[in-house]
Amino acid sequence: MAGATGDLGFRIAQELRKRGATVRALVRPGSTKPQVASLREQGVGVVEVDFNDAPALTQACAGAACVVSALSGLREVIVTAQAQLLDAAVAAGVPRFIPSDYSIDFTKLPEGSNRNLDLRREFGRRLDQAPIAATSILNGMFMDLLTGQAPVILFKIKRVLYWGSADQPLDFTTIANTAAFTAAAALDPTTPRYLRVAGEVATMRGLQAAASAATGQRFRRLRVGGLWLLKLLIKVTRRLVPAPQEVFPPWQGMQYLHNMFTGLPKLAPLDNARYPDIRWTTVQEVLVANLATAQHAR
Ligand SMILES: NC(=O)c1ccc[n+]([C@@H]2O[C@H](COP(=O)([O-])OP(=O)(O)OC[C@H]3O[C@@H](n4cnc5c(N)ncnc54)[C@H](OP(=O)(O)O)[C@@H]3O)[C@@H](O)[C@H]2O)c1
Repeated sequence: MAGATGDLGFRIAQELRKRGATVRALVRPGSTKPQVASLREQGVGVVEVDFNDAPALTQACAGAACVVSALSGLREVIVTAQAQLLDAAVAAGVPRFIPSDYSIDFTKLPEGSNRNLDLRREFGRRLDQAPIAATSILNGMFMDLLTGQAPVILFKIKRVLYWGSADQPLDFTTIANTAAFTAAAALDPTTPRYLRVAGEVATMRGLQAAASAATGQRFRRLRVGGLWLLKLLIKVTRRLVPAPQEVFPPWQGMQYLHNMFTGLPKLAPLDNARYPDIRWTTVQEVLVANLATAQHAR
C-alpha cells in the first residue's frame, strides 16, 4: 500500500487487516507521522522507501498480490510517483494495481475541465499500457465533505446551495465505505478495470430533505445560477487565488462541483452489491453524526 499514512489510505489498510490480509505499507523514509506506529500496532508491515530508488521500491513490492495506491498530490505524485510505483510493481511481477482515483467518473469528462482529474486520466493511460491488471475505484464525492469543506449544505442559514438543476443526481460515498470497498476489491482477483459505487445518489432536493430531516429544521434551496455562471466564477477565482501548488484550492473544489452538476461524470452502473458485507452510509446518517461540527462550521 502506498499512502497508508493518509486519511483514506490508513482506513484501507485497516479494512485490509480486518479482512485478514497481509499488508505492507510503503512510507516515506524517516516518516514521523503517528499513523506509522498505529499501522504497526495493527499488524501492518511498514517499509520505509524512497520512490526515486527503483530497486528498493521493486523490492518493497515483491510478493504482493495487489499494489493499492491512496497517494494524494499533483503531477509529481499522481503521475510521477505513481508511475514509479507502477514500474516497481511490474518489475516485481505484481499481478494487480489499484491507482489513487477515488473520484467521479473522469473517463466521461472532457480534458481541461478538472485539473486533478486530468492527472488521473493521464496516469490511467500509462496504467493501461502496462502489463498489469488495473482496477480504479470511482466513488463520486466523499460524503464526509458535506459537513466539512464542500459549501453545499449551509447550516447557519439553512440553505442548500447549488448551480444548474435541483434534479441532477449526484454520487456521494463516505471515506469509510470507500475504504471498505477498496479493500474488498484489492482482495478480489476478478475485478474489472473500473468499479463504481455510491453510498447515496442524491439530487439537491434530496440533500435539502436530508438536511431538514437530520436537523429537524426546514432547509430551503438556494440556486446561485446556471452552470455557465459557476464556470465564470471558477475562472475568476482561479485568477485571483491560483494557489498552483495546493491540491485542493477553492477553484478545484468548484471544478469538482461543476463537473458533478453537469451530470457527465455520473457513476453508472453501480457496483454497490458486489461485496454484500458492506452497509452503505446515507447522507442523512452522516449529517446526524456530524451535526455539532457542521453547524459550528457553517
Ligand atoms: N472523491 C472525493 O471527494 C475525494 C476527496 C478527497 C480525497 N480524495 C482522493 O482520495 C485519495 C487519498 O486522499 P487523502 O485525502 O487520503 O490524502 P492524504 O490524507 O493527503 O494522504 C496522502 C497520502 O499520500 C502520501 N504521499 C503524498 N505524496 C507522496 C510522495 N511523494 N511519496 C510518498 N507518499 C506520498 C502521504 O504521505 P505522508 O503522510 O508521508 O505525507 C499520505 O500517506 C486521493 O486520490 C484523493 O484525491 C477524493
